[in-house]
Amino acid sequence: MHTYAVLTISDKGYAGKRDDASGREIIAALDRAGYIRAHYAILPDERDMIAAELKRLCDENTATLILTTGGTGFSPRDVTPEATLDVAERLCPGIPEALRAYSLAITKRAMLTRGTAGLRNKSLIVNLPGSAKAVRECLDILLEPLAHGLDILTGRDAECGAPPAPCSA
Ligand code: MTE
Repeated sequence: MHTYAVLTISDKGYAGKRDDASGREIIAALDRAGYIRAHYAILPDERDMIAAELKRLCDENTATLILTTGGTGFSPRDVTPEATLDVAERLCPGIPEALRAYSLAITKRAMLTRGTAGLRNKSLIVNLPGSAKAVRECLDILLEPLAHGLDILTGRDAECGAPPAPCSA
Protein backbone atom coordinates (compact mmCIF):
# COMPACT_ATOMS: atom_id res chain seq x y z
CA MET A 1 0.00 0.00 0.00
CA HIS A 2 1.05 3.60 -0.46
CA THR A 3 2.45 5.94 2.17
CA TYR A 4 0.73 9.20 3.08
CA ALA A 5 1.44 12.44 4.90
CA VAL A 6 -1.02 14.90 6.41
CA LEU A 7 -0.32 18.60 6.71
CA THR A 8 -2.89 20.58 8.62
CA ILE A 9 -2.58 24.25 7.73
CA SER A 10 -3.97 26.47 10.45
CA ASP A 11 -2.60 29.42 12.43
CA LYS A 12 -4.81 28.50 15.38
CA GLY A 13 -3.95 24.80 15.19
CA TYR A 14 -0.23 25.61 15.05
CA ALA A 15 -0.64 27.80 18.14
CA GLY A 16 -2.45 24.98 19.95
CA LYS A 17 -5.70 26.96 20.03
CA ARG A 18 -7.75 24.74 17.72
CA ASP A 19 -8.47 21.03 17.78
CA ASP A 20 -7.27 19.39 14.55
CA ALA A 21 -10.50 17.57 13.70
CA SER A 22 -9.92 17.61 9.93
CA GLY A 23 -6.40 16.17 10.26
CA ARG A 24 -7.76 13.38 12.46
CA GLU A 25 -10.52 12.73 9.91
CA ILE A 26 -7.94 12.22 7.14
CA ILE A 27 -5.80 9.94 9.28
CA ALA A 28 -8.79 7.79 10.27
CA ALA A 29 -9.96 7.43 6.65
CA LEU A 30 -6.53 6.70 5.19
CA ASP A 31 -5.60 4.23 7.93
CA ARG A 32 -8.96 2.50 7.34
CA ALA A 33 -8.20 2.32 3.61
CA GLY A 34 -4.87 0.60 4.33
CA TYR A 35 -2.48 3.48 3.60
CA ILE A 36 0.70 3.72 5.68
CA ARG A 37 1.13 6.93 7.68
CA ALA A 38 4.56 8.46 7.16
CA HIS A 39 4.20 12.01 8.47
CA TYR A 40 1.80 14.36 10.21
CA ALA A 41 2.34 18.01 11.08
CA ILE A 42 0.45 21.23 11.78
CA LEU A 43 1.80 24.34 10.05
CA PRO A 44 0.74 27.99 10.21
CA ASP A 45 -0.70 29.76 7.14
CA GLU A 46 2.77 30.80 5.96
CA ARG A 47 3.36 30.25 2.25
CA ASP A 48 7.12 29.76 2.49
CA MET A 49 6.90 27.29 5.37
CA ILE A 50 4.18 25.26 3.67
CA ALA A 51 6.07 25.18 0.35
CA ALA A 52 9.34 24.17 2.06
CA GLU A 53 7.64 21.32 3.91
CA LEU A 54 5.87 20.09 0.77
CA LYS A 55 9.13 20.22 -1.19
CA ARG A 56 10.99 18.31 1.51
CA LEU A 57 8.33 15.59 1.74
CA CYS A 58 8.33 15.12 -2.04
CA ASP A 59 12.08 15.33 -2.61
CA GLU A 60 12.92 12.98 0.27
CA ASN A 61 10.25 10.49 -0.88
CA THR A 62 8.61 10.65 2.53
CA ALA A 63 5.14 9.87 1.22
CA THR A 64 3.49 9.08 -2.10
CA LEU A 65 0.31 10.93 -1.14
CA ILE A 66 0.39 14.28 0.67
CA LEU A 67 -2.97 15.60 1.81
CA THR A 68 -3.22 19.12 3.14
CA THR A 69 -6.26 20.39 5.01
CA GLY A 70 -7.13 24.05 5.49
CA GLY A 71 -6.05 27.38 4.08
CA THR A 72 -7.91 27.00 0.78
CA GLY A 73 -10.53 29.73 1.25
CA PHE A 74 -10.73 33.48 0.82
CA SER A 75 -9.18 34.69 4.06
CA PRO A 76 -6.12 36.88 3.40
CA ARG A 77 -4.06 34.25 5.30
CA ASP A 78 -5.29 31.33 3.11
CA VAL A 79 -2.30 30.45 0.91
CA THR A 80 -2.18 26.65 0.78
CA PRO A 81 -2.95 26.47 -2.98
CA GLU A 82 -0.26 29.07 -3.74
CA ALA A 83 2.32 27.13 -1.69
CA THR A 84 1.32 23.95 -3.52
CA LEU A 85 1.70 25.64 -6.91
CA ASP A 86 5.12 26.93 -5.80
CA VAL A 87 6.43 23.34 -5.66
CA ALA A 88 4.26 21.38 -8.12
CA GLU A 89 6.07 20.19 -11.23
CA ARG A 90 2.91 18.98 -12.97
CA LEU A 91 -0.69 19.97 -12.27
CA CYS A 92 -3.63 17.57 -11.75
CA PRO A 93 -6.65 19.77 -12.48
CA GLY A 94 -9.04 16.83 -12.66
CA ILE A 95 -8.78 16.23 -8.93
CA PRO A 96 -9.94 19.65 -7.65
CA GLU A 97 -12.48 19.78 -10.49
CA ALA A 98 -13.96 16.48 -9.31
CA LEU A 99 -13.87 17.45 -5.63
CA ARG A 100 -15.73 20.69 -6.31
CA ALA A 101 -18.22 19.10 -8.70
CA TYR A 102 -19.08 16.35 -6.22
CA SER A 103 -19.13 18.72 -3.24
CA LEU A 104 -21.37 21.27 -4.96
CA ALA A 105 -24.21 18.75 -4.83
CA ILE A 106 -23.83 18.83 -1.04
CA THR A 107 -23.17 22.54 -0.43
CA LYS A 108 -22.96 25.50 -2.78
CA ARG A 109 -20.16 26.82 -0.56
CA ALA A 110 -17.92 24.16 -2.10
CA MET A 111 -17.21 26.72 -4.84
CA LEU A 112 -15.33 28.74 -2.22
CA THR A 113 -12.41 26.37 -1.89
CA ARG A 114 -9.46 27.28 -4.12
CA GLY A 115 -7.74 23.92 -3.50
CA THR A 116 -5.44 22.50 -6.16
CA ALA A 117 -3.47 19.30 -6.77
CA GLY A 118 -0.09 18.60 -8.31
CA LEU A 119 2.76 16.16 -8.70
CA ARG A 120 6.36 16.62 -7.65
CA ASN A 121 8.91 13.84 -7.95
CA LYS A 122 6.99 10.66 -7.00
CA SER A 123 4.42 12.38 -4.79
CA LEU A 124 0.91 13.71 -5.30
CA ILE A 125 -0.20 16.73 -3.27
CA VAL A 126 -3.95 17.33 -2.85
CA ASN A 127 -5.42 20.33 -1.00
CA LEU A 128 -8.57 19.62 1.01
CA PRO A 129 -10.67 22.22 2.83
CA GLY A 130 -10.25 22.72 6.57
CA SER A 131 -13.37 21.21 8.13
CA ALA A 132 -13.82 17.57 9.12
CA LYS A 133 -17.13 17.50 7.23
CA ALA A 134 -15.55 18.76 4.01
CA VAL A 135 -12.66 16.32 4.33
CA ARG A 136 -15.08 13.41 4.76
CA GLU A 137 -17.04 14.46 1.69
CA CYS A 138 -13.94 14.95 -0.47
CA LEU A 139 -12.40 11.63 0.53
CA ASP A 140 -15.68 9.91 -0.39
CA ILE A 141 -15.01 10.60 -4.06
CA LEU A 142 -11.22 10.81 -4.02
CA LEU A 143 -10.09 7.52 -2.51
CA GLU A 144 -11.23 5.02 -5.10
CA PRO A 145 -9.71 6.58 -8.27
CA LEU A 146 -6.71 7.81 -6.28
CA ALA A 147 -5.41 4.29 -5.68
CA HIS A 148 -5.09 3.73 -9.41
CA GLY A 149 -3.41 7.11 -9.94
CA LEU A 150 -0.84 6.42 -7.25
CA ASP A 151 -0.14 2.99 -8.73
CA ILE A 152 0.59 4.67 -12.07
CA LEU A 153 2.72 7.39 -10.42
CA THR A 154 4.89 4.84 -8.63
CA GLY A 155 5.12 2.45 -11.58
CA ARG A 156 3.14 -0.35 -9.89
CA ASP A 157 0.56 -0.21 -12.64
CA ALA A 158 1.05 0.71 -16.26
CA GLU A 159 -2.22 -0.55 -17.71
CA CYS A 160 -5.28 1.67 -17.40
CA GLY A 161 -7.57 -0.90 -19.01
CA ALA A 162 -6.40 -3.93 -17.07
CA PRO A 163 -8.62 -5.46 -14.40
CA PRO A 164 -9.24 -5.26 -11.47
CA ALA A 165 -9.17 -1.45 -11.60
CA PRO A 166 -10.13 -0.19 -15.08
CA CYS A 167 -9.97 3.56 -15.69
CA SER A 168 -13.69 3.66 -16.42
CA ALA A 169 -14.58 2.20 -13.00
N1 MTE B 1 -16.36 21.27 0.44
C1 MTE B 1 -17.15 20.31 0.94
N2 MTE B 1 -17.20 19.11 0.37
N3 MTE B 1 -17.91 20.53 2.05
C2 MTE B 1 -17.90 21.72 2.70
O1 MTE B 1 -18.60 21.85 3.72
N4 MTE B 1 -16.95 24.00 2.76
C3 MTE B 1 -16.56 25.11 1.89
C4 MTE B 1 -15.44 24.79 0.93
N5 MTE B 1 -15.46 23.42 0.50
C5 MTE B 1 -17.06 22.75 2.18
C6 MTE B 1 -16.30 22.47 1.03
C7 MTE B 1 -16.26 26.35 2.61
S1 MTE B 1 -17.53 26.95 3.58
C8 MTE B 1 -15.08 27.04 2.49
S2 MTE B 1 -14.91 28.61 3.13
C9 MTE B 1 -13.98 26.49 1.67
O2 MTE B 1 -14.16 25.10 1.47
C10 MTE B 1 -12.56 26.78 2.17
O3 MTE B 1 -12.27 26.11 3.36
P1 MTE B 1 -10.86 26.28 4.10
O4 MTE B 1 -10.52 27.74 4.11
O5 MTE B 1 -11.09 25.73 5.47
O6 MTE B 1 -9.83 25.49 3.36
